[in-house]
Amino acid sequence: MPQTSRITKAVIPAAGLGTRFLPATKAMPKEMLPVVDEPAIQYVVAEAAKAGLDNVLMITGRSKRALEDHFDRVPTLETILEKKGDTARLAAVQEASNLGDIHYVRQGDPLGLGHAVLCAKRHVGSEPFAVLLGDDLIDARDELLSEMIRVQQATGGSVIALMEVEPEKISAYGCADVTPVDGEDFVRVNGLVEKPAVEDAPSNLAVIGRYVLHQAVFDVLEETAPGRGGEIQLTDALQTLSARDGDGGGVYAVIFRGRRYDTGDKLSYLKAVVTLAVEREDLGPELRPWLKEFAATL
Ligand code: G1P
Repeated sequence: MPQTSRITKAVIPAAGLGTRFLPATKAMPKEMLPVVDEPAIQYVVAEAAKAGLDNVLMITGRSKRALEDHFDRVPTLETILEKKGDTARLAAVQEASNLGDIHYVRQGDPLGLGHAVLCAKRHVGSEPFAVLLGDDLIDARDELLSEMIRVQQATGGSVIALMEVEPEKISAYGCADVTPVDGEDFVRVNGLVEKPAVEDAPSNLAVIGRYVLHQAVFDVLEETAPGRGGEIQLTDALQTLSARDGDGGGVYAVIFRGRRYDTGDKLSYLKAVVTLAVEREDLGPELRPWLKEFAATL
């Protein structure tokens, strides 16, 4: 039965230790690393808000206080900027606290992405919801989440986002085996495997960090044994749901062909920052010619 209740909740797992960015992340959450002049996490919360998801639950852990502070009001600073008449900076400061209603829950033990999502069970209740992973940024000019919400409402199942990657890169991602759905622009997922070896991968379709899930995933996660890396994997729970008919079962996928920026490791992060900075009206005109000149010296 197609699911019709409106989707308003977004879950953002942000409990990771950020070890790939040490020492920068020794005392600061990796989600706060700036992508040009906004912390990476703000892009993700803004993307959720744009798709109508203004009830956000962040799954955090120790040393994540900066996240709460960032999305909170900061009256002393706001008053100073207001007195100075610095309206542009005041708006920039206030933007993060106006994106939605943000809640926090801690994931006591780092038992994996599936476990992080399970921590949202009480907050989400019995309605479908979105999950956005902070390492993936989706260009604001490209539609993905709203499309996935539409597919969830049409199918009543769970929806993942897939992107074609070079076959040798697939082992960094969840990988899906899919079949087309007649007359539709989405596909049905027959099976999923978390970070397969290149030779075992069923396709070159990689799971990227956006999900719109049926609440049935919570009960499945509770029964999901630790998988790859000894962690409770969301991919494994979705594999179970893909084989289930009715009762919140069925997994579908939107194949994304837009712009995605990975901020999960140092090299991709640097590329994301440069790509986004080059396109900015305030920075691009000076950065572009400098980059060309710089590149010529390499
Ligand atoms: C997670 C998921 C994986 C997915 C990836 C997307 O892995 O487990 O299936 O492909 O996010 O970014 P992680 O990158 O957190 O190891």
